[in-house]
Amino acid sequence: MSMKSIKNFDTSEFLAEFWQKQPLLIRGGIDNTEQLLTAEELAGLACDGDIESRLVTHFDNQWELIHGPIAEETFLKLPNRDWTVLVQSVDVFVQEVAALLDYFTFLPSWRIDDIMVSYAATGGTVSAHYDFYDVFLIQGQGSRKWQLGGFCTPDTALVPDLPMNVLADFHAVDEYTLQPGDILYIPPRLAHYGVALEGCMTYSVGFRAPSKAQIFDLFATAVMAKAGDDDRYEDTRGSLNGKHFEINQETMERVRHAIIELANDEDVLLSVMAEISTKGKFSAPDYQDLSDWKTRLKAGSAIVRSPLCRFNYYSGPSSALFADGLKYSAPTELAEFICRFDRLNSENLDSILAMAGAESLISELVEANCLVMEEH
Ligand code: SIN
Ligand code: CO
Repeated sequence: MSMKSIKNFDTSEFLAEFWQKQPLLIRGGIDNTEQLLTAEELAGLACDGDIESRLVTHFDNQWELIHGPIAEETFLKLPNRDWTVLVQSVDVFVQEVAALLDYFTFLPSWRIDDIMVSYAATGGTVSAHYDFYDVFLIQGQGSRKWQLGGFCTPDTALVPDLPMNVLADFHAVDEYTLQPGDILYIPPRLAHYGVALEGCMTYSVGFRAPSKAQIFDLFATAVMAKAGDDDRYEDTRGSLNGKHFEINQETMERVRHAIIELANDEDVLLSVMAEISTKGKFSAPDYQDLSDWKTRLKAGSAIVRSPLCRFNYYSGPSSALFADGLKYSAPTELAEFICRFDRLNSENLDSILAMAGAESLISELVEANCLVMEEH
């Protein structure tokens, strides 16, 4: 992947002062955002049953939310204002939109969730609300007025009985009109309210953070997959010192110790992190037999990473590649190479195969559909 820089933006100042703390407006951060996708192309994605989308309308002061896929007739019947269509994970399906991620390499890739794209007709809005995640709102075509409020808590009042979260009291403290290429960073839980001033597209680079409950759930699954029934609690002399009905502190510590011992198992932790970082929302396509991948490369084909799969690597002592939710042990250099290469072809094949472990790892990834033949 190539690295690009956001203009009028100081990365280290942003990470120290703004990330997860306060909003930031970046004027003219990215060029040529008007041509990325047309409203018609976005509507086409919203009609696709495999892609998550929604339509939010606000006609006659009534909020309505329709989950995708959106029928073509629904689009044809829409008036010329007060609606928004929003499509998730557009980066997985549209290469030009995925390329926006090249501007965000200053943040860990596993924290990125997806790029959601919205098209709003004049007056279109999804209401004043807050999200649990960091988001960079990149203005594509058209202009949108954004108002920002304060930070919300679980006690912040919402309008009752609506199909979506709408803040009951929203007080704007800042207001900005975004033009194509402008970027607004919004930290988690900050109230925001965007209204399209004309037909406009917004590209939301959204982040994610697993809840501790989710981490524990994955941990429990990884432990169950590994630990057998024969590894059991054992008494110590001290745990036997209590009264007949008492559970003493030493017994409690023995149980705590068992939990900590499992959490200290590097292999279990790697499985947990592989899932957290790279488990995707989309299933791999049907299995294709590509066991002859080397012959194919020599004949002129190329291998690329599947756009449906995510890749990360762990650089610690038990280095590993994470791909599509699974861990593959690999030297750091090879694991990083798999995350970064552009294409494998006859020209670079020999130098790649010279890396220890490369051939078997690539074969495993090809079999898992994480690496695929480039389509022409
Ligand atoms: C939108 O694109 O209309 C909404 C984006 C957001 O508020 O997160
Ligand atoms: Co939002």
